[in-house]
This record gives sequence, C-alpha cells and structure tokens, in this order.
Amino acid sequence: KSAVILISGRGSNMQALVEGGTGLTFKAVISNRPEAQGLEWAASKGIPTRVVDHKALPDRDTFDLALGDAIAAHRPDWILYAGFLRIVGEKFVNRFHGRLVNIHPSLLPSFPGLHTHRRALEAGVKIHGATVHFVTATLDSGPILIQAAVPVLAGDTEDTLAARVLAQEHRIYPQAARWLAEGKIEFPRNGVVQSSASG
Ligand code: GRF
Repeated sequence: KSAVILISGRGSNMQALVEGGTGLTFKAVISNRPEAQGLEWAASKGIPTRVVDHKALPDRDTFDLALGDAIAAHRPDWILYAGFLRIVGEKFVNRFHGRLVNIHPSLLPSFPGLHTHRRALEAGVKIHGATVHFVTATLDSGPILIQAAVPVLAGDTEDTLAARVLAQEHRIYPQAARWLAEGKIEFPRNGVVQSSASG
C-alpha cells in the first residue's frame, strides 16, 4: 500500500510516519506552503515533494482541484495529513472518500479546530491527548482510528503540554498507518471503527 503525505509546516509527524516502519510506500510529500520546513527533510530522504500554494490560486475550489490532481497523479491508497492546516471543501473530501486520514492534537470530540493545548488548559481538563481520524466534510469529526491520552500537569504551559502530546502523536500515527498498510482498518460504514483494530 502507498501513501501521499500532506504538510504545512515542521513535518515532525511526517518524519515519524516515514521512519516508523509502517510498511507503506511514501510516494510524495505535498505542502500548501512553499516555506514548510518538512519539504527539505522529505527531499533529503529521496521522497518527491510538491507545493500547491493556496496563496497563488484564486479560490478554494481551484486550490482543492489542484491539490487533488497533485495527489491523484501518485495514485496513493492513503492520503495522510501531517500538520496539514488547510481546510478543504466537500468535493475534495468526496473525491478521496474514505482514504483521507488526519492527526489532531486533542482527544476528539473535545477541542476540534486550532489552539487545542491552550483551550485544554483554559478548560482545566486533567487528561488531554491526540487522535488519528478519518477526514470527512465536517472538521475534525470523522471516525477515530486511535487515540492516546496524556496527563495535564500542574504548571503546564501550552508548550510543555504540546510537547507531551506530540510525543504520543509520533507513536500513534505510525501505528495507525501500520494498520492501514496491513488492511486492518478501512473507513467504517456505520461511522465507528471497531476497537478490535487496536490490538
Ligand atoms: C501537530 O501537533 C499536529 O497534530 C497538528 O499540528 C502539529 C503539526 O506538527 N495538526 P508537525 O508539522 O507534524 O511537526
């Protein structure tokens, strides 16, 4: 099985995936931002990179189409968002239905969207974490593949909490990718991935 990874920035989850012994073949890394640091790392590993710059395109539909074509050219089984921060439209999601996977830095359905660590601290939750989920047309709401929890500790700042969560992201995303490579998980018809997948 093969995958294309989508990034917007640093790309540490991309690195965890590429080096995670997932069994997936990574055909390309695509960024919506030309300055994404992760692009250089991917290129240094011999993975083809590509930029589809949303700022250079007139509207979201045009961007979605260009991004979709860039992905489709590689015919990947899976499209893995790794810190990919651009919201795409329903047409894009339908084009790759059931093949889009994202990592989100909270225990969904808590804290969808941005600034999850700040919001977790403000809410005073004592457990926080990360979620790997299928992408659907509703932001951060698709079926969950795997989650990891971390404690929120006294004195935590956004940065210390983010670092604790990120360490778990780097563990669970390759795990989920391994299941995808092995065909153990597919997009569930009834909206819920059975937990037996997490053996
Ligand atoms: C990660 O915390 C990811 O969950 C979130 O943005 C961050 C990206 O980090 N969506 P990186 O680019 O993978 O290092």
